[in-house]
Amino acid sequence: MILPERPRRLRQSPAIRRMVRETRLSADQFISPLFVREEEKARHPIASMPGQYQLGFYELEEEVRKIQDLGIPAVLLFGIPSKKDAEGSSAWDPEGVICKSIERIKKCCPDLCVITDVCLCEYTSHGHCGIIADTRRGTRDVDNDATVEVLIREALAHARAGADMVAPSDMMDGRIGAIRDALDAEAFEEVAIMAYSAKYASSFYGPFRDAAESPPSFGDRRSYQMDPANANEALREITLDLEEGADIVMVKPALAYLDIIRQTADTFSVPIAAYNVSGEYAMIKAAAAQGWLDEKQTVLEILTAIHRAGASLIISYFAQDAAKWLQR
Ligand code: PBG
Repeated sequence: MILPERPRRLRQSPAIRRMVRETRLSADQFISPLFVREEEKARHPIASMPGQYQLGFYELEEEVRKIQDLGIPAVLLFGIPSKKDAEGSSAWDPEGVICKSIERIKKCCPDLCVITDVCLCEYTSHGHCGIIADTRRGTRDVDNDATVEVLIREALAHARAGADMVAPSDMMDGRIGAIRDALDAEAFEEVAIMAYSAKYASSFYGPFRDAAESPPSFGDRRSYQMDPANANEALREITLDLEEGADIVMVKPALAYLDIIRQTADTFSVPIAAYNVSGEYAMIKAAAAQGWLDEKQTVLEILTAIHRAGASLIISYFAQDAAKWLQR
């Protein structure tokens, strides 16, 4: 047969496939999320996230050494405090779980990039991402501007403890600009902001809420996280966060939102992070445990797809496994 093109010619051997591959994954792109308990020694398995643990400070040090040895440049920290209150005051306690974690990591792995999740849901007794107030509609909801004030305190506490980057995940309006101004006013202009810009109200966060012990005690997060049906709104959120000073923007979750990642990459020339969230992890773990999916092949395929869609950085609970697989 005479054909004008034979695309299979470039698929015939592993060597040629390697040469023409358009997307390459590397450990350099990964950010490893970690859950830290306010205890010296702890390693509590997270039931809905097999292979993930709530770590004590000692185990955190062991874990970050492994992460660094695998060539992963960054960790993203979530804290499980020993006490919670309505304001989430342990979130900005200089002796609190995250500030202590940062100090411990900076002592053992000073070159590792330490990113902190800036949000209140892990620290509030009601599990919402901010300060609750009565609304004019007679309901109770997260008060935007009161929450921003508290998020500023939290971001400053993390910066003072030595964080390299803060990642506000609350979805309040105006928080990126407010945090940027507060950091600059204290001469933390080198502390970067990775904004959870397009964060959807997603059922894929279920296992995380077990892991971080942070489910909302009433209602849901739909008055602050985005409607999964909206794409234009994501671009507006990203535009605002960039205008307010975000250095990196994030789309979250990743797999059901690859179109949002692609539109973001086509529209803006900034680094884009995608969060391969807890539910995406749990689905693969559950299917692999049944023998229904090949875990390694599936994970490398989805991480490649997230990168191909336009994310230059990937936050994933698979980061360490993937880094090991990529070494071989
Ligand atoms: C905190 C936060 C959440 C996640 C990251 N930061 C949970 C939520 O918004 O309910 C989810 C991460 C994951 O599912 O892996 N607001």
